[in-house]
Amino acid sequence: TELPSDLFGAIADLKRELNAVILAHYYQDNDIQDIADYLGDSLGLSQQAAQTDADVIVFAGVHFMAETAKILNPNKLVLLPDLEAGCSLADSCLPDAFAAFKAKYPDHLVISYINCTADIKAMSDIICTSANAVKLVNQIPVDQPIIFAPDRNLGKYVMEQTGREMVLWQGSCMVHETFSEKKMVQLQIQHPEAEAIAHPECEPAVLRHASYIGSTTALLNYIQQSTSQSFIVATEPGIIHQMEKVAPHKRFIPAPPINNCACNECPHMRLNTLEKLYLCMKHQTPEITLPEATQQAALKPIQRMLEMSA
Ligand code: 13P
Ligand code: SF4
Repeated sequence: TELPSDLFGAIADLKRELNAVILAHYYQDNDIQDIADYLGDSLGLSQQAAQTDADVIVFAGVHFMAETAKILNPNKLVLLPDLEAGCSLADSCLPDAFAAFKAKYPDHLVISYINCTADIKAMSDIICTSANAVKLVNQIPVDQPIIFAPDRNLGKYVMEQTGREMVLWQGSCMVHETFSEKKMVQLQIQHPEAEAIAHPECEPAVLRHASYIGSTTALLNYIQQSTSQSFIVATEPGIIHQMEKVAPHKRFIPAPPINNCACNECPHMRLNTLEKLYLCMKHQTPEITLPEATQQAALKPIQRMLEMSA
């Protein structure tokens, strides 16, 4: 068969041969997290992509993340282990519909969450992530009206934190929408000592029960600083692998979705496997490609984000 018995060793060899860097998101399988050169939230991953001197970027995440890395590095080879690894949130905002939406608000500045396609980025003024959305919106003059797309839950959260009105695109993440207020309350009754923390892609009714809200990296930092010994974690449970590594004596309880299915795991993120990661490096495919005009138009709002969040 094509697969070596020591996948970790074979991937390390290919990394040296290709002068490649492996960038991974926290929602990837544990073994992918363990082999990554850099693991981070969407902001950290973009910053790493912007500054890498590797020749090849192997992106263990979803399509919009790898696409962002390609926009920042048009001359590098950017590999994604499974090209089908999409995102329900990015899919909720298609270019024609978004152009029509934008046309209704011609004087609005467009701030788009990084979880969108390159076409939507190309129609945006500034990109943000969950780590810097509040900070970026606070830098916009108060008399400047804003469209925020595509996540309505993050948008609503940013409106509350900044006191700003924004016009919201009504998209959402299928994973974070599976968490329910009822289940959160039940978990808090079962584990009264546990502190509930959540990602801002959760619905307002879930966020209301969280004592801390932040990006995946912010959540990972928070559990180390907090004096609590146990946490209810309302985001994709891949992050718990890192939480257990950095705080082995603390307890992490994944927030269950409405039915106790495994659907708090992102089905898109989980399409990538260690085997596919090895194969994409071995064959240098599938790679991310983009039309030149889209790449150039999408680069501007990403660069603005990197400048504004520095
Ligand atoms: P962050 O890691 O930037 O918080 O994003 C979470 C997410 O849903 C990525 O798809
Ligand atoms: Fe998209 Fe949600 Fe999966 Fe993140 S967790 S990639 S926002 S579907």
